[in-house]
Amino acid sequence: MSIGGVPEPRPIAASAPSFDILTMSQPTPSVDPVTPVIGAEVRGVDLDHVTDADFRVIRDALMSRCVLFFRDQDISIASQKALGARFGELVAHPNDPGVDGHPEVMPIHADENSVRATGEQWHSDVSCDPRPPMGSILRMHTVPETGGDTLFSNMYAAYEALSERMRTLLDGLTAVHDGGPYYREVNRLIGRDDGGRAYPSAEHPVVRIHPATGRKALFVNQMFTQYIVGLPPAESGAILGFLFEHVGRPDFQCRFRWRPNSVAMWDNRCTQHHAIWDYWPATRSGYRVTIRGEAPA
Ligand code: SIN
Repeated sequence: MSIGGVPEPRPIAASAPSFDILTMSQPTPSVDPVTPVIGAEVRGVDLDHVTDADFRVIRDALMSRCVLFFRDQDISIASQKALGARFGELVAHPNDPGVDGHPEVMPIHADENSVRATGEQWHSDVSCDPRPPMGSILRMHTVPETGGDTLFSNMYAAYEALSERMRTLLDGLTAVHDGGPYYREVNRLIGRDDGGRAYPSAEHPVVRIHPATGRKALFVNQMFTQYIVGLPPAESGAILGFLFEHVGRPDFQCRFRWRPNSVAMWDNRCTQHHAIWDYWPATRSGYRVTIRGEAPA
């Protein structure tokens, strides 16, 4: 389009990294939303060498978009751990021994011999912990030709879409999250003897306030949440059943198509995710680091 025959200056493409010629400063990463509600693809950053300025962009984008995606990140486990450690202390998984020499790095792997895949239902990672993770960073090095996408859902949006009466009902409630039933079933399926170990269990608010954004997010999930405290089982079951369906509403979601060396980084306090195992007998493989969070309030 032109005005009076003079072409309008073309806007810089949203995805082009900016470059300040006067100061010769490094290009800043670009952040491109995936849907209006959740997710962004971050370009122009090398996760092997994250500067302080990069980190500020990443952290702010994570707070506003809830999950971030990066492409072509052939990074080492040490770099992945270092990136996670900038957000906080890394934690080992309560039911996975981790990678040799790196207990806080969880392998995510499924192939033709698998009887299950990790994260095949909507959940927030390890919400059964008294201090559930703040977030996770997952890098896939091997992906199937098709399939193996991960869905992410925005729990602010899930809360805000409820009627005022439902929000009022849920606001003061707490629920018990227990790792035992899910992790014992995983161990049974893969034939792992858990030696009768105890798994984390905790009571959390059904609606939590995000410590950085101050926004309210729904915090119940079908993997770990057992019952709402103080309600008869029938009422608790009916409300949780409704909420477990509700969090999977398509308009709260984005869907990530992995490529080799893609990275996803999510804020576990305001999202849930669901990994789709539709690629058997193909192989999908990567590493996840998980960052300790705070007790939900
Ligand atoms: C998970 O962390 O729950 C697994 C996610 C995935 O494999 O995409």
